[in-house]
Amino acid sequence: MTRFLTPALIAIVGATTIPALANETFEAVKIEAGEALFEAECRRCHSTTPSDASYGPPLENILGRAAGSYPDYDYSIALEASGIVWTPAALRAWMEDNDGFMPGTKMRHVGIEDRTVQDFILAYLVSITTRDGSAISE
Ligand code: HEC
Repeated sequence: MTRFLTPALIAIVGATTIPALANETFEAVKIEAGEALFEAECRRCHSTTPSDASYGPPLENILGRAAGSYPDYDYSIALEASGIVWTPAALRAWMEDNDGFMPGTKMRHVGIEDRTVQDFILAYLVSITTRDGSAISE
């Protein structure tokens, strides 16, 4: 039994006793929590890999992307004509009340009001965004 527990214990002890890793670990935990929340709240409509089928637009590289700009996706007029860029603040407002934030969108209402949950999902969305917009999914 202890044989099976050892790697998990090493991981826990390692994470809590090496201060230099603390920030990195904190960020990694946020991303992991955000991924789980994304799976629960967003994944059924959004892929994060452009080659996967996606009912909504794929969300890889969403941070800093112009709204309604994913090639060949059939957006609502409201989203396509909005002229906004997906900043963290815009993504928060969208998660909180997307159809209030942008009347006419065809994304069904999601109401994620908890700021911590928004933080986690944002951390995950940042983690699947690259500075130069190149794909990280392969
Ligand atoms: C029921 C399906 C559904 C769910 C669940 C859903 N979305 Fe969407 N999403 C869509 C559709 C459809 C669009 C396109 C909306 C339009 O054209 O008006 C969209 C658009 C978006 C956009 C704009 C993308 C772009 O290219 O401009 C973002 C950002 C987004 N969704 C994030 C999320 C996040 C984050 C979640 C989870 C918290 C989520 N969505 C949950 C269906 C969904």
